Amino acid sequence: MNQFWYNKKVEHKGKPKKIQVFDTTLRDGEQTPGVTLTAEDKFEIAKALSSLGVDFIEAGFPVSSEGEFKAVKHIAEAGFPAKSVGLSRCVEKDMDAAMNANVDLVHIFIGTSPIHRKYKLKMSKQEILDKAEYCINYVKDQGFDVHFSPEDACRTELGFLKEVCVLADELKVAHINIPDTVGVMAPAAMHWLMGELVEVVKTPFAVHCHNDFGMAVANTISAVTAGATIPHVTVNGLGERAGNADLEQVVMGCKLIQEIESNIKTKKIYETSKLVERKTGIRVMPNFPIVGDNAFAHESGVHVHGVLSKASTYEAIDPKMVGAQRRLLVGKLVGSTGVRDKLKGMGIKVSQDQAREITNKVKDLGDKGKKVAEEDLKAIAEDLLGKTSKEKPLVELKDMVLHADFSKNPTASVVLSVKGADKSAREEGVGPVDATLNAIRSAIGDKDIQLDEYHLDAITGGSDALADVTVRVSKNGASTMARGVHEDVVMASVLAFINGVNRILKK
Ligand code: KIV
Ligand code: ZN
Repeated sequence: MNQFWYNKKVEHKGKPKKIQVFDTTLRDGEQTPGVTLTAEDKFEIAKALSSLGVDFIEAGFPVSSEGEFKAVKHIAEAGFPAKSVGLSRCVEKDMDAAMNANVDLVHIFIGTSPIHRKYKLKMSKQEILDKAEYCINYVKDQGFDVHFSPEDACRTELGFLKEVCVLADELKVAHINIPDTVGVMAPAAMHWLMGELVEVVKTPFAVHCHNDFGMAVANTISAVTAGATIPHVTVNGLGERAGNADLEQVVMGCKLIQEIESNIKTKKIYETSKLVERKTGIRVMPNFPIVGDNAFAHESGVHVHGVLSKASTYEAIDPKMVGAQRRLLVGKLVGSTGVRDKLKGMGIKVSQDQAREITNKVKDLGDKGKKVAEEDLKAIAEDLLGKTSKEKPLVELKDMVLHADFSKNPTASVVLSVKGADKSAREEGVGPVDATLNAIRSAIGDKDIQLDEYHLDAITGGSDALADVTVRVSKNGASTMARGVHEDVVMASVLAFINGVNRILKK
């Protein structure tokens, strides 16, 4: 039996067996304040979305600029299995741009709510209907399919909204999208509204929910259970203002709570989220469902114990299903005996004094807000014990030159041995440590390796104090802590980072 069995008590008349995912990360997601993507970034994300299994990629708003037009056209002509979509107002030059960009579907939108009619468009209901009819025909007559949106549908009078939907249905648009443009719906209202609409029109419905009240995902899933088959989503919930419905949560919620399938290869969810984080520069909150750092982390003794005996005691989703990893954390309240026992369980024997030293390091990191996972505990212990692997490290530093000029950003040149081959790179940074780590990352050439956390301690006083650097390095969902100690802070950082890289590559 599905472990979320109470959901079965609620029957949904129009609930589909499967949805088609319409991803708008590259259009509404790019409207996130502070986000601008280059054409190359957009293409890389589109490629990842397509291999993730989305059915539609809204690639952008082609009329908005020459660069945007080219980016959309490049994606549309790449031959991805996902269908490409270009946004267009009910304006000829917009529709022309979308069609010239060769998209599979032109997404035409026109405001229908009283507020949009009166203040934005200054048009009557009849004028809106006429304009919509003209634009849908304009695109269809040129052989393109239409994805049609009555913008601000959820604040439109029901009678008029139905009239608009009936018109779009008669004009044979491919889909009708119902946007909750300002995110004002609650799940029950969204379920009711979608139920009303599927009664009058046979064209498949999409739904586009914004997150102004934090209900975008719930509203999207409610609309789906009432019969909408094409949820609009964005990776990491990006989008205008508070964002759009989050792809990860909608797909997994539909699948596990509602038993509604999609074409998404769920094991690729985590890596896709990380790619979008990197490209947009917007990191998800640690407590963000499914892809947040803490989504599968367990700290309290009771939970850790439960999870170790049966993961589903405290996990609704198996992290492997979304390509993520479980993390068992060691809290700052841990004692040295607990640490010693834990290490013993991992096959590492330490004396009581060594256990105390390791515990102090864990507590110290905890006091500074850093979480220590079990594998990090192992790394800290190995570092303190001076235990080095008998295997030759995959990455070694062979040479390094740092150039720090008062008037410019510092640059670092490094030569590394990476799996036996010499690799070199030169990079800038905001400071010497940043420049050096950038150069190392670029010489290694693995874009998936990330430096997630950096922490510096001075072991003794004075400018020749030993610098003790602890870093967290991650790659595709796996992460590890590593440490480096040196009289020089740059070298301590380099040692910690290379140590972390070797650990993560070995994983
Ligand atoms: O939020 C919205 O209404 C939109 C439309 C263009 C569909 O993004
Ligand atoms: Zn929107």
